Amino acid sequence: MNFASCELLKLSSCHMKSMVFRCFILVMLILVFRITICSFRGSTWLTWRTSNWIAMSAASNLQYSIRRDKFLEVPQIVWGLNNQKIALARACLTSRFLNRTLLMPSLSASLFYKEVDLLKPMPFDKIFNFEKFNALCEGFVRLGRYSNLVNHTKPFELQKGSGRKWTKDRDLDQLNQSREESVDTAEVIRIVGKNPFLWHDHWPVKDYAKIFECLVVVDEIENEVAKVISKIREVGRMVGHKTDASEKKENTDGLINLHVPYIAVHMRIEKDWMIHCKKVEQKLRINEICSSKEEIMERVSHIRGIELPVTVYLAVADILLEDGTILSGWKDGLVPFEKKRLGVLGAYKKYPYLIQSAIDYEVCSRADIFVGNSFSTFSSLVVLSRTQKLIKMGFTNSCSVEVGYSSYAYNILGQSGGAKRWMTDMSASSLVDISYGTNNISCNSNWDKTL
Ligand SMILES: *[C@@H]1O[C@H](CO)[C@@H](O)[C@H](O)[C@H]1NC(C)=O
Ligand SMILES: *[C@@H]1O[C@H](CO)[C@@H](O)[C@H](O)[C@H]1NC(C)=O
Ligand SMILES: *[C@@H]1O[C@H](CO)[C@@H](O)[C@H](O)[C@H]1NC(C)=O
Ligand SMILES: *[C@@H]1O[C@H](CO)[C@@H](O)[C@H](O)[C@H]1NC(C)=O
Repeated sequence: MNFASCELLKLSSCHMKSMVFRCFILVMLILVFRITICSFRGSTWLTWRTSNWIAMSAASNLQYSIRRDKFLEVPQIVWGLNNQKIALARACLTSRFLNRTLLMPSLSASLFYKEVDLLKPMPFDKIFNFEKFNALCEGFVRLGRYSNLVNHTKPFELQKGSGRKWTKDRDLDQLNQSREESVDTAEVIRIVGKNPFLWHDHWPVKDYAKIFECLVVVDEIENEVAKVISKIREVGRMVGHKTDASEKKENTDGLINLHVPYIAVHMRIEKDWMIHCKKVEQKLRINEICSSKEEIMERVSHIRGIELPVTVYLAVADILLEDGTILSGWKDGLVPFEKKRLGVLGAYKKYPYLIQSAIDYEVCSRADIFVGNSFSTFSSLVVLSRTQKLIKMGFTNSCSVEVGYSSYAYNILGQSGGAKRWMTDMSASSLVDISYGTNNISCNSNWDKTL
């Protein structure tokens, strides 16, 4: 589009010297702009990694550190991947509050909601890189292994209260008392009772975001993620070849080939979710939570500025993979793929639930455009990580600007019939809105630039 208008300019008025000069400037501007956009798109991941390392070296300069001879132990972490991530972060922030190293907790490989006894424990370091976590979070929080224990004395047991009377203030009070000398001398404080996802939340969103940034998947999972993404890009290239002849020319010199964008849509339309979300709608008296398949397709198709054709990766519950209808009904040029059609189902199936979910999470996090449901924890954490990355890249208020790494909520109507633009409010004082869902996703221009 930009080149076409320049071409016109050239033909009509470039014989005049001043116009030649203007034309030249315009071309230069467009080139610079294109290069900026291309390198931005291509190196999102790289930029993010780099900024992480910068953050890390900044953190190690801080005078604060976490004690290495005092530990906190928490109950096994359970439920969905994102509930587990939140629980893990909450346990980390609790141990930071107590200035203790968190003994590496057990996550859960499977997904049983009620029968906690059936939950197969999975060590943290089967999913996330232990050393990288401590390197990236140095000075903020710290994970330790049971082999780091010296004394093996009986731990101090801290029973979390429960019920209506156990308020947030009482909970914080109890933690605060555990910092007093009588308790603090214990080598290990063991928290017993509810799993950490159910603890009261005492920490701001940006503290959670810091911890999520330190969660880097282990190499084996990273390799699977890379395979899935390259598969998505591969079909994207094929789709582009078939329907767009002009693209082909650019492909032969290998320039456009470098980055094939994709959209990821976290489609929550399975029966269980529909029942759950209707209940929440009734409770909150809003009707902006449940989106039908048709509504999702409609709102994705009205997002402005998407260059067609483009691959749409559908992150869906396994049960929907048997339902071929999620692949039909999309607007021409939006080419849907799920794990099965992409040919990666076999690779996913090798892994337990938690790892499958972690792969999907990474694929969505790294998409050029992400569209999710603002009442889903999975979607909310994906958008949180994307917002964090945008802020690190210097886009502190990009709600109105098309920066090429945007997120949307399909359950909320945005401009011109499309899904609504979505960024996390990093200045929020607790994670509650994010962990239980919100329809208040409006962008805020006063985000903390120092994050
Ligand atoms: C933890 O304790 C150490 C040693 O007492 C102290 O130097 C450090 O500042 C404390 N860290 C935090 C986060 O309070
Ligand atoms: C923790 O307790 C100390 C006194 O022991 C008090 O000064 C401080 O304000 C308390 N902090 C919180 C967060 O309750
Ligand atoms: C280990 O126990 C001994 C005696 O019980 C105590 O003096 C020492 O401070 C403890 N060390 C740690 C790291 O808790
Ligand atoms: C919505 O979020 C903004 C900040 O992002 C906040 O200022 C406002 O109070 C919130 N509105 C509601 C109704 O929660």
